[in-house]
Amino acid sequence: MGFKKDFLWGGATAANQYEGGYDQDGKGLNAIDVLTNGAVDRPRLVTWKKADGTTGTSPLVWGEDFSVPADAQPAILPEYHYPSHHGTDFYHHYEEDIKLMAEMGFKTFRLSLSWSRIFPNGDEAEPNEEGLQFYERIFDECHKYQIEPMVTLSHYDTPLSLIKRYGGWSDRSMIDLFEKYVVTVFKRYQGKVKYWTTFNEINAMDLAPYMGGGLTDPTPENRARGAHNQFVASAKAVRAAHQIDPEMRVGQMLAYSPIYAYTCDPADQVEIMKAQQGTLFYSDVQVGGRYPEYRLKQYEREGIILNDTPEDYELLREYSADFLSFSCYSSSVMTTHPEDDDANGNLGVAGVKNPYLEINAWGWATDPDCLRLALNTLWNRYHKPLWIVENGLGWADKLEDDQTIHDDYRIKYLRAAVKSMDDAVNIDGVDLLGYTVWSAIDLVSNGTGEMKKRYGLVYVDCDDYGNGTMKRYKKDSFEWYKKVIATNGTDL
Ligand code: BG6
Repeated sequence: MGFKKDFLWGGATAANQYEGGYDQDGKGLNAIDVLTNGAVDRPRLVTWKKADGTTGTSPLVWGEDFSVPADAQPAILPEYHYPSHHGTDFYHHYEEDIKLMAEMGFKTFRLSLSWSRIFPNGDEAEPNEEGLQFYERIFDECHKYQIEPMVTLSHYDTPLSLIKRYGGWSDRSMIDLFEKYVVTVFKRYQGKVKYWTTFNEINAMDLAPYMGGGLTDPTPENRARGAHNQFVASAKAVRAAHQIDPEMRVGQMLAYSPIYAYTCDPADQVEIMKAQQGTLFYSDVQVGGRYPEYRLKQYEREGIILNDTPEDYELLREYSADFLSFSCYSSSVMTTHPEDDDANGNLGVAGVKNPYLEINAWGWATDPDCLRLALNTLWNRYHKPLWIVENGLGWADKLEDDQTIHDDYRIKYLRAAVKSMDDAVNIDGVDLLGYTVWSAIDLVSNGTGEMKKRYGLVYVDCDDYGNGTMKRYKKDSFEWYKKVIATNGTDL
């Protein structure tokens, strides 16, 4: 029982859900800055404007067709609310927040950089110094408490200007622009940041292509090209990091959850295999270093042509990811049989309800064994170090009159999660670098854009419309997690 001495305990966040300050100190707009709030039964909307002044919206419904009209451009419209504009105001609370993380004993803090804070349009000749300084202050603050930052280079927030001009990651020009951005930050933060990941949940290119790649026209071919361009860009990031500072490590970040067959009908097992290929394709390329045959065959069948070069494949082989980090919140269930009891999950991964598991108000199931299963699958397939960078429970927490928050449901969820990864490490021998709870502190939900769906160990007084004092309050899970870290996962 327990974890290695230098196990990286901590918490995770993302700029577009947490920072706020969306137009401050030279920051440019990004994909999420034009995405409205929604709810469990109301999708978030991308708002847009045409040259003749006509405005409209395109709903982001998981798994359904989405596109912005060809003659329109995503834009902020005054009648809508955009939660990324305020987040939970990390921009002005970072010292206080990092202090709270240090009090919990965090060894690491996962955050993302907003590309458009550094290159407001994504392609300026020179970076925005104020943006660079903001993150520098954060890293210095972390090191004050011996917290190792873990930085995501792109967490769903492609610069809006690049979306307008190129249609997002389906265009190859994005590769060089991204390379310039990452080389800038690798050089600037050399010695301050050791661990990086390139694209948050890179398989979102299939599941949520506007978020994953800023695609406004996500045809199957555009998604395939978007994924390819991100793979090549990631390989170039690994190459640049190793050249700039051999100590740097650049990982992949995958959305992964185990999938169960609802019945023992072999047809259900084939369904599971296909669904798993849909996810593992991304790690087979980025971690394994080569395109798997099952995906090449699919492209052949569907007549999909990648805009690629022979050098791309050399890069993928030579500069695969140093480690595999992933999010895992639950599991899903699939079947070929008619079943009405639809489920819900991260990035809309649905299937049918698992009768053995409890669900939260957003329909996400709590699976006490999902981490052990995920860790075993990924470790045995790649034998590269793993890192759970997102795992947690969204709940409509209540701030009591005495300013306490009793989130025993979250403690129960996290206790089972730590036990599950302990089993993977100590029974199965998986190499696990760290664990960052989603989320360190309350922030806006990605899926619904609500504040009500809270994940943090710290409560923030902010409602769905950004009203509130932004004051921070420790939840019961704060003290629980502090104890877990202090005992290196032995006292749960
Ligand atoms: C992951 C994302 O998909 O899950 C996060 O990387 C997100 O950005 C998290 O917040 C939880 O999802 P949600 O939709 O409940 O916020």
